[in-house]
Parts: sequence; C-alpha cells; structure tokens
Amino acid sequence: MSQPVHGGPDGLHPIACDFSTNANPLGPPQSVVRALAKADRARYPDPSYAALRAALGAWHAVPPQQVLPTAGTSEAIRRLTLAASLQGVARVWVPRPGYGDYAAAAQALRMRVDHYDSAQDLLRVLQARAEPALAWICEPCNPTGESLPPEFWHEAASRVSAFNGVIALDRAYEALRLVGGDPVPAGFAARTWQCLSPNKSLGLTGIRAGYLLAPAEGASGLIAQVEALAASWVLSAEGVALLGALHQPATLSWLSDARATLATWAALQRDALAALGWRQRPSVVPFWLALPCAEADPQALSRRLRQLRDRGIKLRDASSFGLPGWVRVSVQPPGSQQALRAAWDAAR
Ligand SMILES: Cc1ncc(COP(=O)(O)O)c(C=O)c1O
Repeated sequence: MSQPVHGGPDGLHPIACDFSTNANPLGPPQSVVRALAKADRARYPDPSYAALRAALGAWHAVPPQQVLPTAGTSEAIRRLTLAASLQGVARVWVPRPGYGDYAAAAQALRMRVDHYDSAQDLLRVLQARAEPALAWICEPCNPTGESLPPEFWHEAASRVSAFNGVIALDRAYEALRLVGGDPVPAGFAARTWQCLSPNKSLGLTGIRAGYLLAPAEGASGLIAQVEALAASWVLSAEGVALLGALHQPATLSWLSDARATLATWAALQRDALAALGWRQRPSVVPFWLALPCAEADPQALSRRLRQLRDRGIKLRDASSFGLPGWVRVSVQPPGSQQALRAAWDAAR
C-alpha cells in the first residue's frame, strides 16, 4: 500500500516558485492573520466546538449538529470512509483522475475501490443499487480543475435520494472558482456529506482545519459514528481561529478581490505556457492540467521537472493521477511565471 503523492514541500531545499500545490498564492488575508494572532494556544479548545459549530451552522443555514469539525479534508476523508465501513459499506467509487486520498483511505480498510471516468459513468453509479457504497465527487475536481456539466447536475439531482449509501462532495476548491457559479443544486448538496477545506483558498494549507456538513436527513447513525471516531480536540486553537474568521466580511471581500487577481494571473500564465508550446486543458479554478512535451514523454518530463526543482521551481507531475507526461500547474504571480519560462527554456 503506497502513500498518496502530494505537491508542495518534499524534504529537499526550499521551493521558491511553487506551482505544485493549489493553495491561493495571495494569502493569507489580514483578517485571518489577526484572528490567528489571538488564538489561545495555552488552553485546550472547547472539545465540543459549540460556538464554532453554531456560527458555521448559521452561515450555512443548518443546525450545529450537522457541522463536524475536522483536521482538514484529508482527515475527514479517512474518518468518513472508516465510519461508512463500520456501517456496512464495502465499496467506494472515486473519480479518475481524482484526489488520491479517497482511494488510499478505502484501500487501507480493504474496501473495494472502483473508478468512474465521466459524468455518464457517475450517473450510472448514482443509480439505485442493492449494495451500499460510498461515492466521492470532487466539484470542482482536482487535478483537472473542471466542473461536472449542468446536464449532469440536473440528472443527478433526481437520483440522489435513491442512492444506497453515502455521497461525499469534496468542495476543497469551490471558494477558488474563477469561472461560472457553483453548479451543485442545493437539494443535491443537502443529501450529501460536504467536505470543506478553507485552508486552500486562504493560502494557509499549513493549518490543518476544515469541517464536514452532514446531510440534512437520514444520517443520524453515520453522524454519530463520524463523531465517535474523532480524536479529542481534533481541531487546534489555530484551526478554530481560522474557521471562526472564514465568513467575516473582511475575509469574504479579500477572497473576492483575490479571485479577480487570480483570474488575471491565470490568463497571463496560460499565454506564457502556450508560448512554451504546452498543451493546456480548460479549468474553472486557478490550476489545470498541461502537457509540456508535445509527445507526452514521461521520462523527458521527469528529467526536466528535476532540473526545475534544482532551481527552486516545482510543478506537480500528474503521473500519480494516471496521467504520465502531464503536469498540474497552479496559478502563480507573474514573477514566478517568468522564472518558470526562463528555467524551462534552460532545462533540456
Ligand atoms: C481535492 C482535495 N481534497 C482535499 C484535500 C486536502 O485538504 P486538507 O488540506 O483540508 O486536508 C486536497 C489537498 O490537496 C485536495 O486537493
């Protein structure tokens, strides 16, 4: 059983230009920095997180019991998968390509993992079936940065209530959506387990904090199981501060400005990569898939990626997503884009 592969720090020398994680490069906002400065590290957080759950619940218009703090979505994926398994779910559906932790969590529990490759496949998965399953949907999706199409969501909304099992909706990148609006119908979302992971949009991925929104109905057994599996104080004092500042007007307005800047940088970066001859896939968020070497030569690519890494520039090799020859690139400031162009030309 292998560990999931991630972008970002890798134990080598520091990364000056990091295109390999999807954290917002503009963060963190001052409103959250101020909240973090006040985090009380000298005491345990309230183990019930009552005030935080009430505040987050009010924001989402759900009762606090439906808000379950997590140490980030990676932890939520493990806990929800284990809870589902304890409730008799033995089969897990994951997107391909998709975030590796969904399959890793299931494999660690010896659950059966199946992949779906398209919106049509996923609609088939959502059809009522005898055997209970856990189905993961990432909207917008990592690593593609794409959204499932409106026709899918229209059709999926009519199937969600018949699904036998647990639907988990990973919203890690919703707050960074640069194109269009959230396509998930409210009625669909309300029947799923939504994973929220605001450390990415705030540029604070070092803070391990997030929360689950449990379904509105019919999930009391699984909610109790997910809660029972949580470590005491699963969320640190910094995590409480981050989540507490998340919906402050200053944070929301910062995020809206950040999205506008990221959209401008994304356009510049697409032009810069096109000038290098890279093929690029469309995306609704500030990261996307690109094919740097026209012939998709994985060996040539990994050699060049190593040369870039030597110069402090990191890109995410997409091989572990089943896409050898491709990279996932996140939007970075124009200075980093220029550094990448120069280093790519120099690396042969
Ligand atoms: C789709 C997706 N979900 C979840 C995570 C993990 O989020 P967290 O930092 O909250 O554990 C990531 C991190 O890369 C991700 O890409």
